[in-house]
Amino acid sequence: MLRVVVMVSGGGTNLQAVIDGVTNGTITNTEIVGVISNNKNAYALERAKNHDIPARCISPKDFPSREEFNRELLAGVDAYQPDLIVLAGFLVVIPEEMIQKYRNRIINIHPSLIPAFCGTGYYGLKVHEAALSRGVKVVGATVHFVDEGTDTGPIILQKAVNVEQGDTPEMLQRRVMEQAEWIIMPRAIDLIANGKVTVQDGRTIVEI
Ligand code: GRF
Repeated sequence: MLRVVVMVSGGGTNLQAVIDGVTNGTITNTEIVGVISNNKNAYALERAKNHDIPARCISPKDFPSREEFNRELLAGVDAYQPDLIVLAGFLVVIPEEMIQKYRNRIINIHPSLIPAFCGTGYYGLKVHEAALSRGVKVVGATVHFVDEGTDTGPIILQKAVNVEQGDTPEMLQRRVMEQAEWIIMPRAIDLIANGKVTVQDGRTIVEI
């Protein structure tokens, strides 16, 4: 069984998609062993509790320095002894020590087709605002391994979504979630849990 820790900051709809996938058997060989939020008011924590998944908040606000927060975050993750760490809308920069320790064992969902609209400053609605302002006709989402850069790690899965006439950033964000994020995140976890994803020379080989 792949032991998965999910890290969240907000509503947790991607966490919910993973919980649902494990429950309905779309994600196999997988157990969600813990949820960590940096925000004590994140609804994602409620979702975890509703499914009896151990969940806790580790907030930078509760520590005198970033170093101490980073140490506690890593200790909190380690305590669950995860095989895979899933960043599902986690808005905190992952400490370098964690990236090294869990190399190719941390995945993130980004709401664009990387390398478009990604990197520093592209998060949340800003991604969709930028896509609309550029006038692209196709957007999407990407699941990738996390390395030291921002959205630069090996790409695991991507799914395209059409932009429609009259879209607002909010409408586009919702469609990208429904038609891409909630599908490829569970699928990526299932592939990893079944040994179908390997990394070679900074790129993935995915057996689909
Ligand atoms: C998603 O759009 C994800 O791509 C981004 O943050 C959002 C998280 O939403 N990184 P939720 O908390 O999973 O509902």
